Amino acid sequence: MPGSRRLDRFVSECLELSRSAAGKEIRAGAAGVNGMPIRDPAVKVSPGDLVSFRDLELTVFDQLYFMIHKPAGYVCANDDPAHPVIMSLLSDEWGAGQCHCVGRLDIDTTGLLLVTTDGQWSHRITSPRHHTGKIYRVTLEHDPSPDLEPMLRQGILLQGEKRPTAPAEVSWVADRVLDLTIHEGRYHQIKRMIHAAGNEVAALHRLAIGDLSLDPALAPGEHRALTSEEIALF
Ligand code: URA
Repeated sequence: MPGSRRLDRFVSECLELSRSAAGKEIRAGAAGVNGMPIRDPAVKVSPGDLVSFRDLELTVFDQLYFMIHKPAGYVCANDDPAHPVIMSLLSDEWGAGQCHCVGRLDIDTTGLLLVTTDGQWSHRITSPRHHTGKIYRVTLEHDPSPDLEPMLRQGILLQGEKRPTAPAEVSWVADRVLDLTIHEGRYHQIKRMIHAAGNEVAALHRLAIGDLSLDPALAPGEHRALTSEEIALF
């Protein structure tokens, strides 16, 4: 059934407990499902089931999947003492508190950001093993040197790293604007690649993740639920 998951996984998602800590408490008798005590962490719960855990009552909900047009100035987090957080843009959505960002964009980066409650789905998108392409529109600070494009295409050994970046795809949009597709998600990856190639990023906007593009109907700060076809892309 869609939205079904193991009891230990559901409890850990709801309470930000590790799976093993949730499993330990379940085996010790902390949980029940629809009024029945359950000590097996692998038991499947489905949307609509009522789970008791310690003294809490939790209703199993379907997984949530959204795309957000991230505006500049927001951090990819649930809480931050100094900056507005992405999750505040979802505050009208039921269950949004359980969501996490699928990878991170820098505070000044704009564009497509996915958020979900589904940890396995987000792992499939962010894991380097799956080679999911992410397309960014990069605006350069300066005119590009002749070696910028070949360096991006070949891969660049970034400072402090052991392996060069995987080959990226480049498509020029204007003299100082290019669409860059990368298949990894290293820390500040694009800014560091562009810097290593002798330029700087003036603006960065994510257009797409794999075959999923930012919905042009979404203004910065707006979000919408993904369709089942979009969820199934990953
Ligand atoms: N690369 C960066 O440098 N920043 C981002 O936000 C995303 C990719």
